[in-house]
Amino acid sequence: MLQFGEASARRVETSYLTPDVVEQRRQVIAALGLQRGESVLDIGSGPGLLAVEMAAAVGSRGRVSGTDISPSMLALAADRSIPADAAPVEFQRAGVDALPFPDDSFDAAVSTQVLEYVEVIPGALTEMHRVLRPGGRALVLDTDWDSIVWHSGDVPRMRRVLAVWDEHLIDPHLPRTLLGSLQRAGFDVERPWIIPLFNVGYAEATYSGGLIPTIAAYVTGRGGLTAEVIEAWAADLRALGPAYFFSLNRYVFLAHKPG
Ligand SMILES: C[S@@+](CC[C@H](N)C(=O)[O-])C[C@H]1O[C@@H](n2cnc3c(N)ncnc32)[C@H](O)[C@@H]1O
Repeated sequence: MLQFGEASARRVETSYLTPDVVEQRRQVIAALGLQRGESVLDIGSGPGLLAVEMAAAVGSRGRVSGTDISPSMLALAADRSIPADAAPVEFQRAGVDALPFPDDSFDAAVSTQVLEYVEVIPGALTEMHRVLRPGGRALVLDTDWDSIVWHSGDVPRMRRVLAVWDEHLIDPHLPRTLLGSLQRAGFDVERPWIIPLFNVGYAEATYSGGLIPTIAAYVTGRGGLTAEVIEAWAADLRALGPAYFFSLNRYVFLAHKPG
């Protein structure tokens, strides 16, 4: 599985600063319906971008906590500047299945692009449910990597690269089972929907432009993929110009703890 050390954490931060993922966060925050003064938990907070934006949404009377297992991600998050009128934000190291908070601590909890990296889905969702107050909202967002459409000048090579890339996660198809898992953890699930990441015409400052070096770093040397093969794969994509075409779906589940 992909380990989030210093270099890979920076690559994630770069691609999550692109307009595609800025728009994803805007939709996540809107769906959560955050109110001034609320307390919010970001589970697997990564580089802290969502946590800081949620802090601005709940304002200075609110409270935001972020948890993650990666020290490199926590270091990036701790360096983020917090707007003057935003809630205080505290990041700490914790696994998804052992959240260091009492029961009923938060009005809302969110986990985006995290649970697909996790073995302990029931434990993670039970913890999310436990720390929410009755009536609290939960939002879980993950990718199903079978939803990818990525045009290439060499289709068999693209298939090989994506097959090895699927191994960077515990479950590259997690969204298919999330409805049942959330219900078994005690949540009422409100309305699943999709956020597409869609890039036409190659540009580096897009989600998929940033994904190319992330995939290259992970797959090189695995499954018989040499550095030469991966350099050729990346060069082909970057040279496609207007024929470049990438699409991938995020699956979003909004739920609440009955109460
Ligand atoms: C792709 S990043 C997403 C970061 C952030 N949620 C976002 O959307 O910007 C995945 C994050 O999940 C974290 N993570 C993976 N497994 C975890 C676990 N068992 N407990 C806590 N965090 C975990 C990683 O360290 C990484 O920061």
